[in-house]
Amino acid sequence: MIDTPEKERTASNSPASSPLTTSSKAEQYAELVHSRRSVRKYDADSAFDHEAVTRALNLATLSPNSSNMQLWQFHRVVSDDKREQLAKLCMGQNAAKTARELIVITTTPYKWKQRAKMNAAQIRDAFNGREDATSKRAVKYYEKLIPFLYRNDRFGIMGAIRKVIVAYLGRNKPMVREVSKADLRVCLHKSTSLAAMTFMTAMRAEGYDTCPMEGFDSKRVKQLLGLNPKDEITMIIGCGPRAEDGIYGDRHRVDNSEVIIKH
Ligand SMILES: Cc1cc2nc3c(=O)[nH]c(=O)nc-3n(C[C@H](O)[C@H](O)[C@H](O)COP(=O)(O)O)c2cc1C
Repeated sequence: MIDTPEKERTASNSPASSPLTTSSKAEQYAELVHSRRSVRKYDADSAFDHEAVTRALNLATLSPNSSNMQLWQFHRVVSDDKREQLAKLCMGQNAAKTARELIVITTTPYKWKQRAKMNAAQIRDAFNGREDATSKRAVKYYEKLIPFLYRNDRFGIMGAIRKVIVAYLGRNKPMVREVSKADLRVCLHKSTSLAAMTFMTAMRAEGYDTCPMEGFDSKRVKQLLGLNPKDEITMIIGCGPRAEDGIYGDRHRVDNSEVIIKH
């Protein structure tokens, strides 16, 4: 069981705990979510099992992702030397400096052709050569629509043309509007962020803590890890065993009535 501080359990956004309506799995998950905090200081003296990171990353890759293109990578920074250099590039943040391992999560937009091909082949396989309307539509999705949406040039001209096309086609019917080069970047970062969340929750379930970070010098981090110039870093996650003073303050959120809106 995860140790959850009493003040968090009694916070205004605690889950309703009616034993009749809440399954034990739901309670366990709520407990996990409540106990996850962004931890800025890790205990250097406690043991840290890097295999827990392996397990958590294996779960992260099961996260939902746009069109199952899996345009993500998880770079594990484990060695003392690399961690030290990376922490400096995370602006010397404590969460990075004291982390026992750092995960650099990236998007890999240039792999779209390979992944579209993989998905089309997977569908053909699943349908066992059988060609019906469903399989044809699914294959067409990866062979026609995905290339239309993912192909881009340096200046975003193709994306601008797509915007015009969907504005025209969408005059009288529903149409996906987010088709520019910038929209595609957002799309990929959405998927990597979901994987990041799965990873952080899994690490909490392992009894460890994490801190997602966007305060870093992306150019230098890419150089340090020898990343592809087209990789984009979504975030860097520091992890390790929570130090006693690892949480900097009580958790606070705006009232849910302000952010959860019923229509
Ligand atoms: C995309 C993203 C970037 C973040 N960047 C940083 C960061 O650079 N440094 C940091 O200390 N915390 C960072 N955080 C953590 C947030 O400050 C933290 O999630 C927020 O204050 C809520 O606290 P909690 O995670 O403990 O609930 C980031 C969180 C997210 C989701």
